[in-house]
Amino acid sequence: MRKKIVAANWKMHKIVAEARSYIQSLLVELGDETDVDVVLVPPFTLLQLCSEMVGESPAVKIGAQNMHPAMSGAFTGEISPQMLRDLFVRYVVVGHSERRALFGESDHFVGEKVRAAHEASLRPILCVGEKLEERAADRVHEVIDRQLAGGLEGIGPKEMQETIIAYEPVWAIGTGHNATPSQAQDVHSHIRAVIARLFDQATADRVRIQYGGSVKPDNAAELLRQPDIDGALVGGASLDPRSFAAIVKAARDAKA
Ligand code: PGA
Repeated sequence: MRKKIVAANWKMHKIVAEARSYIQSLLVELGDETDVDVVLVPPFTLLQLCSEMVGESPAVKIGAQNMHPAMSGAFTGEISPQMLRDLFVRYVVVGHSERRALFGESDHFVGEKVRAAHEASLRPILCVGEKLEERAADRVHEVIDRQLAGGLEGIGPKEMQETIIAYEPVWAIGTGHNATPSQAQDVHSHIRAVIARLFDQATADRVRIQYGGSVKPDNAAELLRQPDIDGALVGGASLDPRSFAAIVKAARDAKA
């Protein structure tokens, strides 16, 4: 059984006071929930506060939204894996479609980040997903295969098992149009088959694959009941602690 993992991607939202009251509410909402891995992914400016506030909470871990693959150096404006570790960050999102589209990140660069994350003992959440025109042109598998090949290049089965994949169809992000459970399940099972081909079946069976793209409390349960959907990467609906907690509870209760 793969443990479900639900992450809150705050993107470029929230300042200190907002984060403080959010975490207070979330910890109350979640109580001692430990059946689901819960990851808060705030902007860099809030990582330290969030780490301190969740402290030893067994329920909630902290992730970053991005990082540079180098451990240090002349990269003005960037943040290194080592800096994240220093703030007790455990996860890092890499290759989000907004980074790919708005900041020109290539599959190769995303792969460098995945390798750097493992070197620093951070768990990467590698995002993949097709654009609407790619789906319309029946190119979903081709796009996913290319993103997985680039993103997973040079890692071994052990690192693969510690990598989380997030399938996020670009047309579903922030649009209110989530993939249907069967559309998502189709791609998730394809992703697992690709991992089995690149590594081996036992590894593929252990990798957790999140769905992301307009996940809300009212559609989460059905998505999370699909056999290859092992969690959610939540943007908009994660900004409110009650709605995010409702999605975590849906993950806890989901039986494939
Ligand atoms: P959304 O974003 O839930 O607002 O669609 C998901 C994401 O971009 O990770």
